[in-house]
Amino acid sequence: MPQMLLSRKAACNTHGQDSSYFLGWQEYEKNPYDPRTNPTGIIQMGLAENQLSFDLIESWLERHPDAVGLRRDGALVFRELALFQDYHGLPAFKKALADFMGELRGNKVKFEPHKLVLSAGSTSANETLMFCLAEPGEAFLLPTPYYPGFDRDLKWRTGAEIVPIHCSSSNGFRVTKAALEKAYQGARKRNLRVKGVLVTNPSNPLGTTMTRYELDTLIDFVVAKDIHLISDEIYSGTSFDAPGFVSVMEAIEDRQHVSDRIHVVYSLSKDLGLPGFRVGAIYSNNEAVVAAATKMSSFGLVSSQTQYLLSVLLSDKEFTRNYIVENQKRIKERHDRLVQGLRRSGISCLQSNAGLFCWVDMRHLLNSNTFEGEMELWKKIVYQVGLNISPGSSCHSDEPGWFRVCFANMSAATLDLSMQRLQDFVASRGGPNDGASGPRRQKKKPSLGKWILTLSSSDRISDRGC
Ligand SMILES: Cc1ncc(COP(=O)(O)O)c(C=O)c1O
Repeated sequence: MPQMLLSRKAACNTHGQDSSYFLGWQEYEKNPYDPRTNPTGIIQMGLAENQLSFDLIESWLERHPDAVGLRRDGALVFRELALFQDYHGLPAFKKALADFMGELRGNKVKFEPHKLVLSAGSTSANETLMFCLAEPGEAFLLPTPYYPGFDRDLKWRTGAEIVPIHCSSSNGFRVTKAALEKAYQGARKRNLRVKGVLVTNPSNPLGTTMTRYELDTLIDFVVAKDIHLISDEIYSGTSFDAPGFVSVMEAIEDRQHVSDRIHVVYSLSKDLGLPGFRVGAIYSNNEAVVAAATKMSSFGLVSSQTQYLLSVLLSDKEFTRNYIVENQKRIKERHDRLVQGLRRSGISCLQSNAGLFCWVDMRHLLNSNTFEGEMELWKKIVYQVGLNISPGSSCHSDEPGWFRVCFANMSAATLDLSMQRLQDFVASRGGPNDGASGPRRQKKKPSLGKWILTLSSSDRISDRGC
């Protein structure tokens, strides 16, 4: 279909679908690993899915046929749910979700149901907040590296801009006051009005939680600049090690005068492993934001039968208590397995304590310390090694050679196989420490496919919104 027949928005490439993040998925789809039918296929390590605790949810579902069968006290609630269309959501579900969010934060903060706006996942929640807080052409500052989907979720349909806050390995990719100020001034030089800062805490792709000091720095910054702060806390339940996760809502407990400008995004896609259910939320103390976002939520509601089922599940306190603890334990085991597997190949990761992935340092395996060198290595890892991992450039990393590697969407045996494949690959290049003193010397100019060059430019160049 010729692009001229489409609207500018539909034809515009700020969606980011041509990023290596999404293209890696396409390559996986063409040749997916299966232990029996396709043992040499590509192993999907580019998908932050949590499949580690499905058995806990499945056994709950088996023990609660009433909830699954849309019954309450034995009587069908089908008609009630079929007709329900109030965009404020089912009160029982909002209460259960608010309580669950508090529980994930050790009940140090209380979430009130009337400050929640339901959405079809965090994707929809983040976009809705952009529609509420920014005009087309206005900007949000985001620390790098960041979740590749944000180009689509924050910019594509809203016309808002993302300005990177450059973070580096020199301080473990922490957000500093100087980096915030630099990003802000950079935006001003581009004549962009800055409306806020958006962070993910715990971070995707770093797998780290923000310190209390970092949160205070962010809050001070948004107050000083009179802008908003959005904290995407979709991974809040995955934090498995000290220092624990601190929600921005906890950080503003004794600073109530700032609370109008702080907004939290949440979803059940990661903590409960339910991305297919499309359940997310915005939580805000700002009544105007809650009112506007609620009206906008008509475009991405959570179906009433999903709300009903999950209201029963999340109201079962014994289940949620056990689930949270057991899920974190399993994530930690899997994380440690990946870290040890990588270590056997002489590869290290940023030290992390949350998330469903590690931020892996392969700088010593690059032929050249450039993003072209990163894409060249990525292509080898996808095609020769058979692992789809996400190159740092797709997360707008400033330093070539970092990759996000997911560990919770496969069995332990598949993870072990992936580590064995990587070990063989590194050994075939002359040993793990071959490049320890810096990037490998480039022996001959690599012949990069045209698509690879296209990828690297689309990953790093941020188009103005259409
Ligand atoms: C930081 C972050 N925000 C939002 C999303 C989108 O999640 P959802 O499935 O709830 O739309 C993801 C998914 O990977 C994510 O990592």
